[in-house]
Amino acid sequence: MKHKIGVIVGSLREASFSKRFAKNLIELASDEFELEIVPIGDLPLFNEDFDGDKAPEAYNEFRSKMKEKQGFIFVTPEYNRSMPGCLKNAMDVGSRPKGQSIWAGKPGMVISLSQGNMSGFGANHHLRQVLVNLNVPTMPQPEIYLAKVQEMVDAEGNITNPKTTELLQKGLDSYANWFKKLS
Ligand SMILES: Cc1cc2nc3c(=O)[nH]c(=O)nc-3n(C[C@H](O)[C@H](O)[C@H](O)COP(=O)(O)O)c2cc1C
Repeated sequence: MKHKIGVIVGSLREASFSKRFAKNLIELASDEFELEIVPIGDLPLFNEDFDGDKAPEAYNEFRSKMKEKQGFIFVTPEYNRSMPGCLKNAMDVGSRPKGQSIWAGKPGMVISLSQGNMSGFGANHHLRQVLVNLNVPTMPQPEIYLAKVQEMVDAEGNITNPKTTELLQKGLDSYANWFKKLS
């Protein structure tokens, strides 16, 4: 049976580069893994009053889909030197109710990107900080930072730079080893 990996994209916009790279990852993944983008855009802002039986339906759907996943790949841009709010919201939603986190113990990998030179470094490391608390063993190396992403894909989102494909492939292969070591 294939290992089920949830791909979480930290951008909601239609033409998102993060979304395009996430789709490329799905195509590059080996047959042993089944990668699926799990949408986070419909999750209402987390409110602790929703804990317990008052959870919005979107929380229930997200949590049950994520419970099936055995690991996670995050692809995110940076907003104001951190991860976008939609991503942090999804992290919080998945972490509750207390003791029923959908994240704990499942191997993770982080990819950050930007259209400028910064490659989402701030977002990448803020996310890693959150993942420590959520007990997601996150692959340390290779770190994957993608800068000037608009120069790496065409209008359809296909990767045009072979070095980018190589880097993503290396990341996925390393993640496969990381996943197997921990599972
Ligand atoms: C509110 C906001 C804040 C941003 N802050 C940063 C930033 O701190 N660092 C950065 O490199 N890019 C920043 N950007 C640019 C985005 O990272 C860039 O638009 C990126 O392509 C968005 O990701 P996406 O293409 O997946 O939607 C910001 C964009 C927005 C809308």
